[in-house]
Amino acid sequence: MDKIQDTIDLLKIYNQEHIIKLLEKLDDEKKRALIDQISKIDFHQIKELYDNTKKEIEIKENKIEPLPYLDKEKLSEEQKEEFQRLGEEVIEKGEYAVVTMAGGQGTRLGHSGPKGTFKLDVYGKGKYLFEILAENLKEANQKYGKYGKIIPWYIMTSKENNDETIEFMEKHNYFGYDKDSVRFFAQSELPIVDVNGKLLVDKDMKIKEASDGNGGTYSSLRASGALAEMKEKGIKWVFIGGVDNALLKMADTILLGVAINKNVQIASKSVVKANAHERVGVFGKMNGHPKVIEYSEMPDKMAEEVDENGELKYGEAHIMCNLYTIEAIEKISKETLIYHSAFKKNSYIDENGKEVIPTEPNSFKFESFIFDAFELFDDIAILRGKREDDFAPVKNKEGVDSPKTAKELYEKFWNRN
Ligand code: UTP
Repeated sequence: MDKIQDTIDLLKIYNQEHIIKLLEKLDDEKKRALIDQISKIDFHQIKELYDNTKKEIEIKENKIEPLPYLDKEKLSEEQKEEFQRLGEEVIEKGEYAVVTMAGGQGTRLGHSGPKGTFKLDVYGKGKYLFEILAENLKEANQKYGKYGKIIPWYIMTSKENNDETIEFMEKHNYFGYDKDSVRFFAQSELPIVDVNGKLLVDKDMKIKEASDGNGGTYSSLRASGALAEMKEKGIKWVFIGGVDNALLKMADTILLGVAINKNVQIASKSVVKANAHERVGVFGKMNGHPKVIEYSEMPDKMAEEVDENGELKYGEAHIMCNLYTIEAIEKISKETLIYHSAFKKNSYIDENGKEVIPTEPNSFKFESFIFDAFELFDDIAILRGKREDDFAPVKNKEGVDSPKTAKELYEKFWNRN
């Protein structure tokens, strides 16, 4: 009884009276479940995050400088061989692990189901995004498996899509990947709020929550025990990539070799921005630390700036192709990254118990970004890859970065190679 009253008081303090109305309509079991969930919510944090959505983010130009990079195309044969040798050695010895971030909602694509279960219409028969990733890793094991080591593959899911993801991989026999080398772990969640800061209630009469962004990877690796397991296995380098790039190379020995050679804790592959206003984050240095500046946070003038060769000064796009030492992951996993808000469409139950399916974005999801961790370090190695070899994102239903463009890029790449 006290718990119910406490919950009601808390909801009143934080202007969530609509939930009190809904609570009154629920049977005992559902009421208990909802109260239980509410007791775990950090309302102060949610209020702060909501208040932040009303503040303008401003980046002062004078604090930002370009970040040096190496162009893979321009490496000499000797350099390439040296980097490759360094990288191969790590993978061969079984000191390399891969993480796939598959906890996103994929709202822009509009596919019902985890994004990795989306089938890209390639070569007639089609391939699932998870299948494409599995093939990439199988190829790496073949190349660098002379001591019989298999690259451990960690797949980060969300609470929402975890079961469906595992079922899918089981059903498809892990696309021929060694099942014992695959481990799933679910990331944590945060509540979603509407434009007035009200929590949304879902069809199951629970507060609607969503994954806390791909920056949640680090802390979730730790909380799930995956990080400890990696250490036990003797892993020294960890690659973290997205689920939705059909040309992602998860075991690029040159990238690994560059990181080792430069003695850095983080390395990342970039591609040149397609044009000054492409909607991608770009690398820069802010107050002396590596940083990815989101397109939405970059002033137009700065986005268009060119250097003496006519190349964009801030032209290295971040493509979710990141490599870390295990120590770097350990360090980041103990830090709190900042949260950004994303304005998205989310259905909900209104206070009369009716489901509302919005046609326009109606609510804020709070996410931390994987690249916000870079500024915890003094340096990062950037390797410029090639768009046609490394980047075929599946983001939007149609137009740019859609299944159609990804299919074309994928087929062109494989026809060349
Ligand atoms: P995006 O930020 O593009 O999000 O994710 P998304 O979920 O795929 O698509 P939209 O924005 O809803 O349309 C980039 C990568 O980060 C992962 C995604 O699965 C993708 O691999 N991600 C994103 C997570 O693992 N967790 C998250 O909370 C968010």
